[in-house]
Amino acid sequence: MDRFSRYVNELFLWNGQMREFLQSEEVGKDSELWEKLDQFTELIENTNRDLSTEELLDLQAKAEQIHEELEAYFNQKQVNEIGTIMVVEKPVPPGKHTLPNLPYAYNALEPYISEEIMRLHHAQHHRAYVNGLNKAELELKKARDSNDFSLVKHWSRELSFHGSGHYLHSIFWRNMSPNGGGSPEGLLKMEIDNYFGSFHAFKKHFSESANQVEGVGWALLVWSPKARHLEVLQTERHMLLTQWDTIPLLVLDVWEHAYYLQYKNKRSEYVDNWWKIVNWHDVEMRLEKAADSKWPAI
Ligand SMILES: [Fe+2]
Repeated sequence: MDRFSRYVNELFLWNGQMREFLQSEEVGKDSELWEKLDQFTELIENTNRDLSTEELLDLQAKAEQIHEELEAYFNQKQVNEIGTIMVVEKPVPPGKHTLPNLPYAYNALEPYISEEIMRLHHAQHHRAYVNGLNKAELELKKARDSNDFSLVKHWSRELSFHGSGHYLHSIFWRNMSPNGGGSPEGLLKMEIDNYFGSFHAFKKHFSESANQVEGVGWALLVWSPKARHLEVLQTERHMLLTQWDTIPLLVLDVWEHAYYLQYKNKRSEYVDNWWKIVNWHDVEMRLEKAADSKWPAI
């Protein structure tokens, strides 16, 4: 199957998931959302499978528009599950990364994380990583175009630092929810019990990893498609101590900018409170998708 037909098939699948989702959220049939989704269904049902690139991009733009409208609607209602249904994303060209919106208001995680921290953290720190990543990608493109690689070490470091900063923060925001806390269920619970013995043992391991990151960094729960089990890792800054070939599922930012204004040097108090806003639905969704990745046996 070529790339275009695959994409149209994925749109069909996504459209079906959206319909189920609207039903499960009991969105009234008179809602504008249903009207838009019906129009979209009609559009893809009448789509010729031999699409030109322009037609495909047009279809994708319409799908993205509906996705954004659904997201905005559910954000107002503080429902976070919409984040689990994504349109197939276009590749991001060099230098074109953008700051994602938070899936909740800046004050939504209070009292555990203050509005002031969230505002600074997202609008300034995260934005700086997006800008840094774009800059590094464009500089490396310039190097390829001019065949001048004299600064490749510098820009590769920048690419790693800012790229990891952008991707980890993008996961971090969705890993938290004003309706979070409690403990995981389903597949995630099963994998945690299998590998760590119990949720309690995992939580202790993860919290200690966060508390003991040297300097600034992160604690991460990752999935290894090779070993087919979970693991807990630390990373210093955004990209050191990484275990390559794993997929982050749950990440905790322990840079001082994530907690110092509110918790001062009491990092462990921040870590303890953070468990009360963990969005386990998001973590399980990430695990389900990650566990689909299967590397061929050597
Ligand atoms: Fe951060």
